[in-house]
Amino acid sequence: MSLVDLLPALTLAEKASLLSGDGDWWTQAVPRLGLPAVELGDGPHGLRTETGVDMVWVPSTCFPTLSALAATWDRDLVREVGAALGAEAAAMGVHLVLGPGVNIKRTPLCGRNFEYPSEDPWLTGDVAVAYVTGVQSAGVGACVKHFAANNQETERTRISVEVDERTLRELYLVAFERVVHDAEPWALMCSYNRIGGTYASAHRWLLTTVLREEWGYEGVVVSDWDAVHDKVATVRAGLDLEMPGTQGRTDAQVVAAVQAGTLDEADVDRAARRVLHLVDRARPGAGVVRASGHRPGDELTADQLTMLDADAHHELARRAATASLTLVRNSGVLPLDPDGSDRVALIGGYARLPRIQGGGSAGVRPTRVDTPLEAMRAALGDRLDFAEGYPVGETDYYQEQAPAALPSAGQLADEAVALAARADVTVAVVGLPLAADSEAADRSDLALPADQVALLTRLAALDVPLVVVVQAGSAVTMDPWHDGAAAVLLTGLAGQGVGGALADVLLGAADPGGRLTETYPLALDDTPGVVGFPGERGHVVYGEGVFVGYRWYDVLDRAVRYPFGYGLSYTSFAYDDLQLDVLDAAAGRVRCAVTVTNIGTRRGSDVVQVYVGDPSSAVHRPVRELKGYAKVALEPGGSTRVAVDLTGRDFSYVDAVCGRWRREGGQFVVSVGSSSRDLRASAVIELPDDPDPTLPRLVRDDAVPTEAVPWAVGTDGPVRAGAPAT
Ligand code: BGC
Repeated sequence: MSLVDLLPALTLAEKASLLSGDGDWWTQAVPRLGLPAVELGDGPHGLRTETGVDMVWVPSTCFPTLSALAATWDRDLVREVGAALGAEAAAMGVHLVLGPGVNIKRTPLCGRNFEYPSEDPWLTGDVAVAYVTGVQSAGVGACVKHFAANNQETERTRISVEVDERTLRELYLVAFERVVHDAEPWALMCSYNRIGGTYASAHRWLLTTVLREEWGYEGVVVSDWDAVHDKVATVRAGLDLEMPGTQGRTDAQVVAAVQAGTLDEADVDRAARRVLHLVDRARPGAGVVRASGHRPGDELTADQLTMLDADAHHELARRAATASLTLVRNSGVLPLDPDGSDRVALIGGYARLPRIQGGGSAGVRPTRVDTPLEAMRAALGDRLDFAEGYPVGETDYYQEQAPAALPSAGQLADEAVALAARADVTVAVVGLPLAADSEAADRSDLALPADQVALLTRLAALDVPLVVVVQAGSAVTMDPWHDGAAAVLLTGLAGQGVGGALADVLLGAADPGGRLTETYPLALDDTPGVVGFPGERGHVVYGEGVFVGYRWYDVLDRAVRYPFGYGLSYTSFAYDDLQLDVLDAAAGRVRCAVTVTNIGTRRGSDVVQVYVGDPSSAVHRPVRELKGYAKVALEPGGSTRVAVDLTGRDFSYVDAVCGRWRREGGQFVVSVGSSSRDLRASAVIELPDDPDPTLPRLVRDDAVPTEAVPWAVGTDGPVRAGAPAT
């Protein structure tokens, strides 16, 4: 029997109780009917679970944050990490993992960018599908967040996002739509912000019209923590579970509203049914073997604290970190010779206390941490000298290890420069402070801390090759030291395996596997959304429309430091024989194939990216958009034929009049490249107009009255003046 069948046996008060939590991390049980509670636990890159009464975080594996994990461009690896997270959740009795976060990096300033995969919606959706599939393969649920348009932390609990429908659907909803369709997550979490004036938690168009009626989603929608402002309105709009609990306060509001006739009991039933379905999926025995599970207030047992496979998961964290490390500049200084006699100066407090993750609800207590200093010392022994270089502030998990009294920043820098001057090569590990990669606040600029910039500038001026390793959860600027660096390697926030991963890549035991999932701009003023950020008087206007990330830089042909999709291997690859086959013209199904050959002398990996452009569209469209990719690993001289299939959706845009995806017939350019700005081959194909008879004829002149174009998604969804009756 499914627990959903219990619905008719529940009283109104019991049904209302299912719609809010019990404390911070549990749903409410109904003991009278033996209905258990479900435990929720924060992700996304590790499990954050309390030990019960003394509220100590249980150690768990700290994998690369989603931003770093996405930089692997490796679906199998993301799925494997998801499965490991699911296994840890199961071991700890957690039924629903609060992740992945799939919000788009609209601006590099967003403090939570480290939790999000990309500036590109297609890649974000792809990562989300792999992650959710992995987590749920372990018999626990994933909760995809934050639905929707939570793209900044400033005033996140009240800001109203003013965005047009096309932009919302083409950029900010795509990943949610794909993950709902392809991975069926158990839950979605609504965001804090408002959209067109209405809180996401009470946004009927978002939670019901789009999510349920259009996409057919059947899982639970959970509120972000304390995101419910008007309980009855949220139930009416389609929110199911309010978190955390309110000790019965809002349950009583639901009961009173039904009794007063202002809330339809059918709305309560619908939400209660979905919560019952969640409880049914989560109950012991419904999925894979789970440790006995614990109830609210219980201490975790010793077995649960020693979670499954800690060693194996640490190795996986290290492998994922290695695959995420992104080399963006290399004069040839890397890889370093592991067996040579060169003296290596390793500089930087973050080599001793690495930045492995960001701050806020995603922060986990790692089971252990491989530091770059230990890993490099183990590999190089006496050849390595270390200097702190700059003061390290709060790094959270290592706070207790930081020396109590440090020399001044000037002294630290002088010592480091003196050490580097005597070395044959310098490796400087720098990064953003924890506060810059944290929930609830955004950055105000893109620079590294001034102490570090000053130090790098001095190191770059020495006659000793300088390798700069940057630990940051989002893009940083690199002036004035960049051109003086012989190599630049980005680690992102790579999790607890970062030390070993970094040593392997620096010393050539592994190829740097990462590619950028966000553009690195030259300056903050170049970035999309910078004008008007973070909004004013409670509103932020997404005036750049669909031109976010590389779509922005490309439409303006603006120079960037490093483009989306970019990253170097220690070998190089040739792309030949691009071929496009139209498999089904009416459906817009096209196969894109290209031969990739390793033309260097080492084994290495590359990410073949497929971009689509519609240069003769009647509407403003990005120059090119990522629509597929394949990661390949090849031995020297090795070659493989890569095929990526495109669908009708990949050539479409959202028609602002009907709020629907449509393909405009004509010529499309399909390109393959190793970044959005390194296209190796392009071809043109012709596809017919979208055959959907309910779509209106596309008007290609300026005869459309401006008032017929909806501007924003408002309280009840977009206004569709001019839309044909369907
Ligand atoms: C965050 C969510 C998180 C929740 C529970 C909120 O503040 O926005 O991402 O899952 O807290 O910790």
